[in-house]
Amino acid sequence: MVIHVGILTVSDRSARGQRADLSGPALAQAIADHWPAATVAEAGVVPDERSEIAATLARWADELRLDLILSTGGTGFAPRDVTPEATRSVIDREAPGLAEAMRGESLRVTKHAMLSRAVAGIRGRTLIVNLPGSPKAAVENLATILPVLPHAIELLQEAPDAEQHHATTEGAGRGA
Ligand code: MTE
Repeated sequence: MVIHVGILTVSDRSARGQRADLSGPALAQAIADHWPAATVAEAGVVPDERSEIAATLARWADELRLDLILSTGGTGFAPRDVTPEATRSVIDREAPGLAEAMRGESLRVTKHAMLSRAVAGIRGRTLIVNLPGSPKAAVENLATILPVLPHAIELLQEAPDAEQHHATTEGAGRGA
């Protein structure tokens, strides 16, 4: 199964064409180098506008049915950093462990990791993960969660009754 990934760069300056988007291509390269089962099916740049970020995430999940969307940028404390709020507005369920792991691992690199407000969560069968804005930070954070992403996506693809099946099997195992 090919895993379809979308990369959304969130940056006012890149959206205006005032700064080249280096983070999106850096993430695409990291995926090409380290995750042969995945392909970057969509990539785009939006300004730091909550409604525009949210609409793009929702469209990529609902219409393009991507397995994974990585956003880069807008997770810090600046007034226009609104990627976490936009993400929270479109996810059904949070996946805090991914964000916790990224912050924990990044703290070994820089104290500034504490300033990341990144969110991860699930919309339908799409996993959405916020990454920081700089190419280096974005790739470092992706590297932290990359080992668990195939299993995460596999779980999201399960049939709706699979959970029931697990419960029954576990119950039977305990002699219930
Ligand atoms: N994580 C890693 N691994 N490496 C980094 O250099 N930079 C931090 C942090 N996470 C960094 C990192 C900084 S300086 C900030 S402000 C936050 O991510 C948020 O970044 P953003 O505002 O570009 O999204």
